Amino acid sequence: MSVTAVAHPNIALIKYWGKADERLSLPATGSLSLTLDIAPTRTTVTLDPSADQHVASWSGEPMTGSELERVSAFLDLVAERAGSRTRAVVETANEIPTGAGLASSAAGFAALAAAASAAYGLALSPRDLSRLARRGSGSAARSVFGGLVQWHAGDDEGSFAEPIDAPGLDLALVVAVLAPGRKAIGSREAMRRTVATSPFFGAWVASVPGELDAMRAAIARADLTAVGELTEANAMRMHATMLGAVPPVRYWNADTVAALDVVAQCRRDGVEAYATIDAGPNVKVLCRPEATTAVADRLRAAFADVDLLVSGSGPGVRIVGPAA
Ligand code: PMV
Repeated sequence: MSVTAVAHPNIALIKYWGKADERLSLPATGSLSLTLDIAPTRTTVTLDPSADQHVASWSGEPMTGSELERVSAFLDLVAERAGSRTRAVVETANEIPTGAGLASSAAGFAALAAAASAAYGLALSPRDLSRLARRGSGSAARSVFGGLVQWHAGDDEGSFAEPIDAPGLDLALVVAVLAPGRKAIGSREAMRRTVATSPFFGAWVASVPGELDAMRAAIARADLTAVGELTEANAMRMHATMLGAVPPVRYWNADTVAALDVVAQCRRDGVEAYATIDAGPNVKVLCRPEATTAVADRLRAAFADVDLLVSGSGPGVRIVGPAA
């Protein structure tokens, strides 16, 4: 049995940073994101009754070490739920530079959750698929759905993502790939350190629920300015919590700060644009679809041959076929 699924990355406007439970991948707070329409991950899962272990490859390259362990542990979880001892072959390909804070793990585990659960014969509701994807990578819970998506904090049962209605709010994102390499420290370890050592983490946990409420209200009234201001402020707060960790976690480089200045200058010039930054140095700029050219031109003027990705709102995960 072979199943192929496609999922897109998502970028959080209100971030997930810090777990309440590591094993179950439960977040300390809720979060809210935009699913992108670029850089999909395509994953095929084939059950192999003759195999004695799971095998996985990434763009044709065999996965090894901790990467393979993470995928295998996830497949074990799916197989166990299906009451199966059969192993799987996973073939996955991704168009986005991995490990650069561009949320490749979100698309990857959303696609893997959909393909693996179908291959093992589990008929999951979208909500249960989101709960399953969460176990692979927290933010993958959100890539199960398209558009604007909220992921709830809660227990295993209650921590799932769901789509949010956003009538009249058309969002786009310009991603400035300032450093495409692998990040110095993975989000899992960085979260762990922040939760364990940052004196600011408590303040983060206390403030996010109010920020989520304000964001939901801003979305409901299609208020781009409020959505943007909340987005940028939340990203600054997330990075502040990690700067307070021991030793500090700093993902920014000099270009990150320069890009924030470009975004601020856009606003002064009347181009509505707001920045957000994940677990890496890259800056993502939220704006209206009509403003992406102006934003991209300014980023290009500031950074000679920067790679720019322009995205609109994208779809949720879907099964695209029985085979690759
Ligand atoms: O899904 P993870 O464990 O890679 O964590 C994602 C963390 C951030 O991208 C920084 C924030 C978010 O909500 O996506």
